[in-house]
Amino acid sequence: MVPAYYDNRHIRRLLKGNTVTTVLPLITEVFVLVHLTGMAILVGAFIINMRAKSNFPFTLMVWGAAIQLFTGTILVGLAYMSDDAPDNLKITIKTLLATGALIAAILGAKRQSHGESKLQPFFHTAGGFAVINLIIAVLWNAELYV
Ligand code: HEM
Repeated sequence: MVPAYYDNRHIRRLLKGNTVTTVLPLITEVFVLVHLTGMAILVGAFIINMRAKSNFPFTLMVWGAAIQLFTGTILVGLAYMSDDAPDNLKITIKTLLATGALIAAILGAKRQSHGESKLQPFFHTAGGFAVINLIIAVLWNAELYV
């Protein structure tokens, strides 16, 4: 039984056809594309600079984490619109980790711009949270454990 708040049958009926069901997957795939690009920026910036001791790519990581939060939230909305409810616990954990990564990257960027040192913990928190999120995104998958 589909909960009323994400039942889009009335929208489909209103549009007198399959418009919603054919357009939504396309929009979803475009957001998945941007979501994966944001992931590549965030995780890539971390892995490439993992051994760095200074000049951390915080600005890139702020952009990456912000893209992940924005596109991820849109993807959740699109999933509900497609009658395909996401795992709320997984989404909550991903949101907390992505927010943590964004905050760590913003704090690191501010401190780096003021010429402060000892910024490795900020860099590793932002990058570590992103990598954990990547692992959760791929391995926390109901289809893998049936
Ligand atoms: C650092 C942060 C994040 C990383 C690295 C990340 C990574 C990924 C990856 C790799 C996928 C594709 C998984 C697959 O198809 O097997 C994915 C999908 C998804 N992510 Fe994220 N994500 C992040 C943050 C978020 C946030 C904050 C949200 C929600 C607010 C979110 C919501 C989703 C949703 C709904 C999908 C499923 C898309 C679909 O296949 O229909 N993600 N994420």
